[in-house]
Amino acid sequence: MPAQLIDGKTLAAQVKSEAAAACAALRQKGTVPCLAVVLVGEDPASQVYVRGKVNDCAQCGIESREHRLPASTTQAELLALVGMLAQDPAVHGILVQLPLPAHIDEQAVISAIPPEKDVDGFSPLNVGRMQLGQPCCLPCTPAGCLRMIESTGTDIGGKNAVVVGRSNIVGKPMALLLLAKNATVTVCHSKTQDLAGICRRADILVAAVGRQGFITGDMVKPGAVVIDVGINRGADGRLHGDVDFAAAAEKAAYLTPVPGGVGPMTRAMLMGNTVAAAARQSGLSL
Ligand code: GUN
Repeated sequence: MPAQLIDGKTLAAQVKSEAAAACAALRQKGTVPCLAVVLVGEDPASQVYVRGKVNDCAQCGIESREHRLPASTTQAELLALVGMLAQDPAVHGILVQLPLPAHIDEQAVISAIPPEKDVDGFSPLNVGRMQLGQPCCLPCTPAGCLRMIESTGTDIGGKNAVVVGRSNIVGKPMALLLLAKNATVTVCHSKTQDLAGICRRADILVAAVGRQGFITGDMVKPGAVVIDVGINRGADGRLHGDVDFAAAAEKAAYLTPVPGGVGPMTRAMLMGNTVAAAARQSGLSL
């Protein structure tokens, strides 16, 4: 297996220890960083993610407040909770776990989170700031992916980067972050023609499709950096990425595993965003 694994757990531990040190410094100055996590419904995957985020907070010295609401919660009830958290000066970050039940308008809820407490970087103002290259809270998954790519020592400037998937959470912001690093970026999606041919030209390939094994070995350029954002529960009951791992490992120079790749990094970046948000809201520097 020629590909070198990009170890998300080790990198995430580094990011979290930086966040823990910054958190300790803020506590010394009288600010206790606090993240409110809101989960609506009983989606098993979301429950696992939320538990992971709360555990990470504890590890970093960040206070967390968990709000679990039934799937029958109305949009007005959820907006009322977000409004209360928005007003609470002790809460520095608000994360509403997505997806929300179908009867709730996700954008309306995200827009109700004040930009300074939007640690996901999903609110319209933060999306706009990122697009303009202005300082903002970067979305955790693409920011984590970028850090993983950079950890390989790859010079991103001028490289062909292909992002498969165009979601607001991963694909679109990932493309913007790579563009900001001077990559030549192509975004592929379900209507893309000659997807395999485009992927084969990718020096950096980011797969965020949500389909197990979607990226096959023949779609990977020899020597590529391959980042697998997918987390799919297979028929075998185990977690699998969007990339055919064994086949891609024969071609890529660097490859992220699933589990143990992008997932831990996403959570670690959230810790960094929360501490940074707490510092800004307290008028302190990190
Ligand atoms: N669901 C899947 N990924 C994310 C994320 O990064 N943030 C939130 N809020 N929900 C998600």
